Amino acid sequence: MLPSPLNEAITLELLDLRHAEELFALTDANRSHLRVWLPWVDRTRSADDTREFIRQTQRQWAENNGFQAAILEHGAIIGVIGLHGVNWANRSTSIGYWLSGRAQGRGVMTTACRAFTRHAFEALSLNRVEIRCATENGRSRAIPERLRFTSEGTLREAEWLYDHFVDHVVYGMLASEWRPSAA
Ligand SMILES: CC(C)(COP(=O)(O)OP(=O)(O)OC[C@H]1O[C@@H](n2cnc3c(N)ncnc32)[C@H](O)[C@@H]1OP(=O)(O)O)[C@@H](O)C(=O)NCCC(=O)NCCS
Repeated sequence: MLPSPLNEAITLELLDLRHAEELFALTDANRSHLRVWLPWVDRTRSADDTREFIRQTQRQWAENNGFQAAILEHGAIIGVIGLHGVNWANRSTSIGYWLSGRAQGRGVMTTACRAFTRHAFEALSLNRVEIRCATENGRSRAIPERLRFTSEGTLREAEWLYDHFVDHVVYGMLASEWRPSAA
């Protein structure tokens, strides 16, 4: 079960092929906004590329290795959030996310991340949730910081973004630190 709805306006849906056209259109309309921090934007050239991505996420779900969800506001897709994978041996996972430019600035992703973190600890019984952000990506870093994740260190040149490397800050929260009411 996905942690949905998040409130009266925002729902989450497991990514499905029926989302492909709308998700591609949103990606296409937000290329310049998204490609600053996400490495897959330039290779997403058609709805078929988005379909292939969704098929991968369906395999991930079938293999019990995390999942990706569309974030919808009043029924229209505004972004994506997912668990990149689940390390069941070590009971850990990491969260990734993006929003359209117009959906920013209203706390939607902080709310979605809080719900995913809760889901990881309470529904999946995991012990560790990680969020990795490029060091210069202030908007993304603000989310784990708002949710009181611990900044655990920097991975140098952790990700190649089209023509340069970026460093990542690793944020972590442990099950023993999860305080839903305080986050
Ligand atoms: C990263 C990203 C999802 C952050 O989006 P965001 O809108 O800043 O995050 P939220 O939805 O949590 O909203 C937080 C903003 O809403 C405001 N806000 C309003 N109500 C709020 C609430 N109830 N709770 C939290 N924040 C609230 C916050 O003050 C903040 O605004 P500010 O930045 O002007 O201070 C978005 O910038 C994005 O998709 N970027 C491109 C892709 C990307 O970088 N992905 C992450 C890769 S690691």
